[in-house]
Amino acid sequence: MERLQKVIAHSGVASRRKAEQLIIEGKVKVNGAVVKELGTKVSGSDKVEVSGVQIERENKVYYMLYKPRSVISAVTDDKGRQVVTDFFPEIEERIYPVGRLDYDTSGLLLLTNDGEFANLLMHPSNQIEKTYVARLKGVPSKFKIRELEKGIKLEDGMTAPAKVKVLSIDKKQGKSIAEITIHEGRNRQVRRMFEAIGFPVQKLKRERFAFLTLHGLNAGEGRELTPHEVKQLRALAETGSIR
Ligand code: URA
Repeated sequence: MERLQKVIAHSGVASRRKAEQLIIEGKVKVNGAVVKELGTKVSGSDKVEVSGVQIERENKVYYMLYKPRSVISAVTDDKGRQVVTDFFPEIEERIYPVGRLDYDTSGLLLLTNDGEFANLLMHPSNQIEKTYVARLKGVPSKFKIRELEKGIKLEDGMTAPAKVKVLSIDKKQGKSIAEITIHEGRNRQVRRMFEAIGFPVQKLKRERFAFLTLHGLNAGEGRELTPHEVKQLRALAETGSIR
């Protein structure tokens, strides 16, 4: 909870002293009701208006999370399951995930309260590469992998060409590990792509999002992005390159 005049001043609408004056003059509303007391405290979710215009409350913040499996890529879950924002208990800003990873998929997920940034990164026209490591049931031949590299027909249309590498093969157990890089973000896309060539995914992890990796993080840990990383991501989404 913060004092109303401080919140107004932080939003850049007015100086602290001017904000106090606006409050006394009855120009400030909290959740639709005029508030004239200077000591009033507001929380991050209260709606504050100055002269009828809602102020921008929050600083824009940007995080990455190493999402564990069995966690929902959402801010709430009606079934009470763990959600990705549970891993940021001390963050006051109302962050939400940029896109989603399946409940069963682990790996790199971005979270922010910057809607414009989130939309930019999720826009289908951008070519941001995401790299996944998949454990497959079976061992695909080069010929089968080539199908993914060319683009494969799924029920919602052809996929763009993917980069695929088989990292290891366990013939005895009938399993293999493959790395796949795609720039689209359709629902359960990687699982459906491998399913389409006859090699179901048993385990899936997103290792890389653009130039960001999980380096230094354990499952369930997150970190703030640096201003430079945010700038580079924006440039990459807008222009396809980071310079
Ligand atoms: N592709 C999938 O199949 N699942 C994910 O969570 C992400 C990409």
